[in-house]
Amino acid sequence: MNIGLLGFGVVGRGVYEITTSRDDMQVKKVLCLEDINLPDAESVKDIKCIVEDPSIDTVVEAMGGLHPAYEFVRAAIEAGKNVVTSNKALVCTFYDELLPLAKEKGVSFRSTAAVGGGIGWLSELERSRRVQKILEVGGIMNGTCNYILDNMTRFGLDYAEVLKQAQKLGYAEANPSTDVDGIDTWHKVILSSNIAFGVTVDKQSVPVAGIRNIQAQDVENFKAHGLVCKLISTGKRNGEGYSIYVHPTLVKEGDLEAAVPMNYNLITFVGETSDRMSFYGQGAGRYPTAYNVVQDLVDVLEGKGFYAPYGEKVSADNSVELTWYVRGNWTGAVAENWGEAVVTKAVSVSDMHAWIKENPDAFVAAIR
Ligand code: HSE
Repeated sequence: MNIGLLGFGVVGRGVYEITTSRDDMQVKKVLCLEDINLPDAESVKDIKCIVEDPSIDTVVEAMGGLHPAYEFVRAAIEAGKNVVTSNKALVCTFYDELLPLAKEKGVSFRSTAAVGGGIGWLSELERSRRVQKILEVGGIMNGTCNYILDNMTRFGLDYAEVLKQAQKLGYAEANPSTDVDGIDTWHKVILSSNIAFGVTVDKQSVPVAGIRNIQAQDVENFKAHGLVCKLISTGKRNGEGYSIYVHPTLVKEGDLEAAVPMNYNLITFVGETSDRMSFYGQGAGRYPTAYNVVQDLVDVLEGKGFYAPYGEKVSADNSVELTWYVRGNWTGAVAENWGEAVVTKAVSVSDMHAWIKENPDAFVAAIR
């Protein structure tokens, strides 16, 4: 397999390093804005050098972001090249367009590293739905947020300081707002729900709230009540519809999610036959993510083409009611006072997310 690698950042460099030790695949060209000197690959600055090169059969996209990743991937598929990508924003936004195109062109399109870094989550989810109905997906899907929350909880560190560490370690996206505001998790739960339920979820119907406003005083409050805060995603069948959302969630100290350290992810599906299955591992970082990209490359060599095709377009129904921890100007019904914060009476997910939009400085977490 001759590979054209798009991007030479955290993931791209990892893919290059892993493939150099294999004799079944070789990175021939690397598209990169900077000049890089590699012993056995040519550095190029124009995508045409890759898509118009007939000796390249497979493109690995590790640039991140929507544009120009989308245009480059589309051009690669149109040129008859297989594509493997770790880019969740791209796959979540354009999969139902790129998948039919890849099918029409008879090439593979895989994206296991897009959710869960090094965890074989999407590949197992795809296998699982061959033999059972998936009822629920979700969990801790962002290594950066977990790293921040874990360090704040275990060592009492300050939010801004730990975010800088996560960036240095290569966990955070180029724009860390994508992580801390929950957007990365939002892409991942939508993609997982699409594959699990065989639908195309309307992204705008899925509300998201992140961890940007969490403070040391909130963490102290949670500890005093035997709770731990995690950014948790949920995608659940709900009668004929689906509840799908992302927000900080308080879990009990003894719960599985509470024990997830550092940049690790814990992602779970609940199946009608298998019941609950959880997947734990490094959710971010160079080598774990590159590992899953290379797994996809091996799958392409073995002729495995696609994830489950998307089905009908659906909107999430988030009328389900939860109780919430709120530090902010909450004027609704209160069940308990926790210092400067309150625990609300039952409020639906959609109503609470509408309130969060109007109160951007508040910190809100659902209580599981
Ligand atoms: N920024 C992402 C994370 C990278 O922190 O989980 C892996 O998708």
